[in-house]
Amino acid sequence: VSWFSRNGKLAGKRVLVTAGGTMERLDPVRYLTNDSSGKMGFAIAEAARLMGADVTVVAGRTAVSPPAGVRVVRVESAQQMLEAVTGVYEETDIVVKSAAVADYRAVNVSDRKLKKSGEKLVLELERTTDILETLGERKTHQFLVGFAAETEQVEHYAMDKLRRKHCDLIVANDVSKDGAGFNGDTNIVQVFGTEGLVESLPLLSKREVAIRLMELIAGRLTPRGG
Ligand code: CTP
Ligand code: CA
Repeated sequence: VSWFSRNGKLAGKRVLVTAGGTMERLDPVRYLTNDSSGKMGFAIAEAARLMGADVTVVAGRTAVSPPAGVRVVRVESAQQMLEAVTGVYEETDIVVKSAAVADYRAVNVSDRKLKKSGEKLVLELERTTDILETLGERKTHQFLVGFAAETEQVEHYAMDKLRRKHCDLIVANDVSKDGAGFNGDTNIVQVFGTEGLVESLPLLSKREVAIRLMELIAGRLTPRGG
């Protein structure tokens, strides 16, 4: 049951979570997206809420509804997510970036429905801004947690992302494993910090992963004013 506080470990903390997948428009009725359901991000938001935090969720396309008691900002594209997130970053203590953000978007977004012509169509795509990297570069007091979806060399790529994006923690999942990653109700994650592997969790429900992760984060916050 979730209508009372789990504990007050995050009381007074402002937590920003991104959830779901971005949608990159091609025309008014078509877009590029991914398999993200938002379940992991929403579970993290709920766990933070239960620990007493003030929670904002910036959510793209999701297959499930957000938890009660959190502020929800809906966005479509990576660019909109970037703007929503940077807008509240200054007043945020903890950021958890679980959204699956598109790496590429269409160079030209048509304002009319594209007509078919010819046998092949080549879409020209360009890179989106890396939101997490942008936050890492602008980090002042925030505790920054990224995700990494990998299918091979999990530790190597996760540690690379942690350093490149100036994260305090990276939550890596091997999305090639059964029970891990996009869309399901369970996940198998390894959490890395600047010192290397911090915690390796077994197959758990996303809700349980979220609680363990938020407990881990709460325990690693540097006490302020002390
Ligand atoms: N991310 C982001 N903005 C992007 C792309 C990714 O903020 N434009 C964030 C994701 O929310 C996630 C982390 O970066 O927290 C890692 O995402 P992932 O797709 O695993 O890594 P990339 O750096 O995009 O590298 P690649 O897809 O090539 O593995
Ligand atoms: Ca990516």
